[in-house]
Formats: sequence, structure tokens, C-alpha cells
Amino acid sequence: MLKSHSCGELSLAEAGQVVRLAGWVHRRRDHGGLIFLDMRDRTGLVQVVVDPSAAESAYQSADALRNEWVVAITGEVQVRPAGTENPRIATGGIEIHASEVTVLNPSKTPPFYINEESDVDESLRLRYRYLDLRRERMAANLRLRHRVVKYIRDFLDERGFLEVETPMLMKSTPEGARDYLVPSRVHPGHFYALPQSPQQLKQLLMVAGVERYFQIARCFRDEDQRADRQPEFTQLDLEMSFVDETDVLDLMEELYTGLAQTTAPHMGMTSPFPRMTYEEAMKRFGSDKPDLRFGMEIRDISSIVAESGVGVFTSALAETGGTVRGIVAPGCAGYSRRELENLTEIVRGQGARGLATIGLDAEAGTAVSDLQPDNVRSALARHLDIETVRSITEAMGASAGDLLLIVAADESIVGASLSALRTELGERLELADPNELAFAFVTEFPLFEAADDEGGLSSVHHPFTAPVPEDAGLLEESPTAVRSRAYDLVVNGLELGSGSIRIHDRELQDRIFALLGHSPEEIEDRFGHMLEAFEYGVPPHGGFAPGIDRTVMVLAGEPNIREVIPFPKTQSAQDLMMSAPSTVDEQQLVDLNLRLREAAQDIAASD
Ligand code: AMO
Repeated sequence: MLKSHSCGELSLAEAGQVVRLAGWVHRRRDHGGLIFLDMRDRTGLVQVVVDPSAAESAYQSADALRNEWVVAITGEVQVRPAGTENPRIATGGIEIHASEVTVLNPSKTPPFYINEESDVDESLRLRYRYLDLRRERMAANLRLRHRVVKYIRDFLDERGFLEVETPMLMKSTPEGARDYLVPSRVHPGHFYALPQSPQQLKQLLMVAGVERYFQIARCFRDEDQRADRQPEFTQLDLEMSFVDETDVLDLMEELYTGLAQTTAPHMGMTSPFPRMTYEEAMKRFGSDKPDLRFGMEIRDISSIVAESGVGVFTSALAETGGTVRGIVAPGCAGYSRRELENLTEIVRGQGARGLATIGLDAEAGTAVSDLQPDNVRSALARHLDIETVRSITEAMGASAGDLLLIVAADESIVGASLSALRTELGERLELADPNELAFAFVTEFPLFEAADDEGGLSSVHHPFTAPVPEDAGLLEESPTAVRSRAYDLVVNGLELGSGSIRIHDRELQDRIFALLGHSPEEIEDRFGHMLEAFEYGVPPHGGFAPGIDRTVMVLAGEPNIREVIPFPKTQSAQDLMMSAPSTVDEQQLVDLNLRLREAAQDIAASD
């Protein structure tokens, strides 16, 4: 070994010892003939002093050093002179007096600072990811990710789960996104698909009698990228036999509670995790992934305003599915016209025609029954009598100084609008504590959603999800009303994972495929292997799949998953470091029996 110790682990205990260190020059300073180096390795920093009067040739070498050069140093650990200690670094009580300095490898000047946290253009960071990963924030994220995965593996191992690998070269699975395809050379015109998830294989492992399976599984989906989406990402994929919803959710709750306490002990957490149905989540928060770090729940005031004579309310209520609901922005009665216009834009973005606002412009502490017409700041003031305003205020749990935000429209538009407002206000008013993890389970998602206007259906989760038994009778006559046995784990407004209890009955599975519009030939071609397996003794089973990237992102307090993926892709699914995707040699295409279409040829030629 070039090193006898690591930089960051040295302390007063080693004072007087001669040590050999190897690492990077983090910073170099010249001070009146002495050279000071901050030397860095994976464990941290230590200060090295090179004194020409003590070690002339070490000084010559140190004189040539620049940031990020790789060096080996031999020297004695000494207690720093009183007054020169550095409390900001763990090794700040000591320094190394170098007797030898050897350059192992020089470095060009890096394109951005490694030794300070500065805002660096993300494409530059991704192009030089190996340098970016040297920075402390990124190195800490790598360490955290390791600990998270290790915790999960140990936890599941202790509970009898078997880690099983499943193939990357698979057959297309319908998880809702586009597949990444891999052409087969030996079977011209045939393609493998990279797995969108190991869904079918984990169910087949249950048929195989594994009973408790998990995998840290890489998944691939060709879909639009967002802050919490990457074309390839990692799931903790898990499946269990002979279980129901409660068994799966209890296990996930225990896992996530322990995981958060162990890897992010500074974060607060609600325990037990609330469990609510999809219907309840949509009613209370307008979202199936509510941020529960703050209240601001949606209130239904339809019955109060039904007789109000206010056109926007009554006309919405006259439509089927129409409703009038609102939320309270605490202390925001004084919002300016511009601020209100800004909130209106948010609800328009969700399909609402407008936003009704009522500012309760009265001194704090004023009782609701004492509100007077001149306390009401609202474009609707002329149409609303004070009694109605008081009733609305009471029903919404508001008080003087608050701003009431009300949307009248179809239920889904109202929910989406108020949810968007809630998220915006939560941020603006800093209601969501960044150091809190508000986990929750949302259960009983609908089984189907409308895929088009002609009655076509698609699965909300995936086609292997079981319906709630008492709704099974509605499958053919009212499919969108059928609840499923699917559930999500959410945290702070983010979907962390999804799962369901599966169908284990071949006939029911056939019915679901048919309802999804698959012809018998299609069913045979795409799912024949599943259906065949389902004729050989299938245990009741269910599972779950939280995203590892999202989990680490939340535990690290990072704003997007790229920060916790060692080598992520850009928003346009490119790897800037390796320049992927790239064109390939004509011969490779020939071998694969492929020819590019004209448009693709032009694009490839212009590269
Ligand atoms: P689902 O498709 O809901 O379920 O995915 C489960 C979890 O995987 C993560 N995830 C992603 N993370 C990053 N980038 C993406 N593009 C991306 N897509 C999904 C999310 C999500 O909650 N087989 C089922 C699970 C099951 O039924 O057991 C499945 O894949 O955290």
C-alpha cells in the first residue's frame, strides 16, 4: 500500500508517528517559505506542512504541486501549535510535517472547483462526472446510497427474503412507458426489450415457490424525463406469497422507518404512517400523493353556495360531477392583485376557468360572526351576502386575516387545481419542513382509467393488479368504478413506490386482458407464458417496488434524482460523459440486419 493511514482518520492519537499518505491536493498555499497542502482522500482532509529547511527535496516537489494532483507523502504527525487549530475539519488538531513528497500523477486544471461548493452548470458536471463525484456533496450521496441499499439487503435477508436476479434481455412488459429495444443478431427482425420492471418475472418466481423475493433491480423506460424520472433507474423490487395488503404495507412501513432512522437520523418522521384510500386522498388533498407535512385540507362548500345565486358556483353545480371546494391560505388576506392573478394562472393550468378569492380583511382575532361586509375583499363581494361569507369561512375553518381560494368546476379539475395551489402555497409560506419525512400509504386506487373517449380502458397500475373482491361484479358493467388492491407509498408529495395484490386466477386475468381491449391472439402472444404458468398452482401473492433513486433523493434532501445517481442521463436522456446514445458502424447495423430510415440517416450523418 502506498498509504499507511487515510487522511481523514488521523487524530491526536497518532501524534509523533511517521505516516504515509496518498491522495489529491485539495488546496495549496505558500506562506513565508512554508508550503501548506490540504490533502484529500475518500475519508477527508488533513493539512500537510512542507518546510524547506527540514526537507529540501520535499519542498521542491511540493512547490510544483497544483490542485487535484495525486501525491504520496511521508511525514510525522504533529499537534498543531496553539491557536492554529482548524475546528472546521475533523483532523484540525494535527498536521503532517512532510519529509517526502512524491507526485504520483499531475492534473490539468479542473473545469470547475472541487474544493468549494459553487453553482456549476449541470451539463459541465455531467460531462466531467468523475470530477463532480470528487466533491463532498456528491461523495456523501454515494456513501448514503451504499448505506441505503445495504440496510435494505440486511433487513430483507433477516426476514427470509431471497435476492434473485432476473434478465435484462426480456420480452416487452406493459408498464405504461415505451420499451428500450435491443435487436437480436441471431434472430433477424426480432428484438429483446429491456425490462420496465421485473413485474412478470417476480410473479413467476412466486409460481416457482420462492415465497419471498427481492432484487435491487435496474429498470428502463423510454419516457419524458423529469426531476424524479430517469430512463434507467433502480427499484427495490419485492414480492411475497400468501399475503394481503396489510402484510405488505406493514413490512414496508417497518423497512422505511428503520431506513430513515438509520440513514437520516436528523430527519423527523410521522409514525405510524397514515393509510388512506385513494378516494379519501383525492377528497382531502386533490392528489394521490399528498404532501402531509402541512394541513391546508380541501373543504367542500357546495351545499353552502348552492343557493348563493353566484353564477360561477351555481352553474358549476348544475353540471354532473360539478362541485365547489376551497382551501385556506393562512394570513394571506392582503395578497396583491398580481399575487392573486398568479394563483389564478396556476388553476387555469389545471383546466379551471377561474379562481374565486375571498380575503378576510379584518383584524386578527375578529370572530367569524363579527365579520362585516367591508372586511370582505373579493371580486364576488357584491354577489355574496355576509351571512354566506361567514358560513363559508366557518366551513373552511378560516379566520380573520386568511385568504379563501375557491374553485368551482368538475370534481377532477377542482381537485387538481386545489392540489396545485396547495403545493405552491406550501412552498411559498414555507409550511413544509425540509427536515421532515411525512410518509403515507394510499390504497384502493381505481383499477382502470379511460384510455380514450370511446370507452377504451387502461390499467391505473398494471394489468396484473387484482380488483377489490366486492367490486369484481362491476368489472364489465362499470369498469372505471372498480377499486383495485393497488397501493402507493408517498412521502412529502412524491410517489416513492407502488405495488398491489395480484390476480392469481387465470380466468380473472383473462377477463382483465379482454377488458383492456387485447384480442385473444394478442393475449396469447404477449402474456401466454404468464397464463400458462397460472395453470400450475399459483399462490396468492402481492408485492411492492419503491424507487431507490427517489428514496435516496429524499433522504439526502436533494432536489432531483440525478444528484444521487452516480452516472445519470440528462433531461434528453443523454450521457454527456460517454456521448451516448451514439451512431454505430455500418457493419454493426449489417450484422443486426438493420437499416436506418431516411430521417434517422440524415440526423446520424449530421453528427
Ligand atoms: P411503478 O411503475 O409504479 O410500479 O414503479 C415503482 C416505482 O419506481 C420508481 N420509478 C422511477 N424512478 C425513477 N425514474 C423513473 N422513470 C421511474 N419510474 C418509476 C418510482 C415508482 O414509485 N412493477 C411495479 C411495482 C409492483 O407492482 O410491484 C412498478 O414498476 O419510485
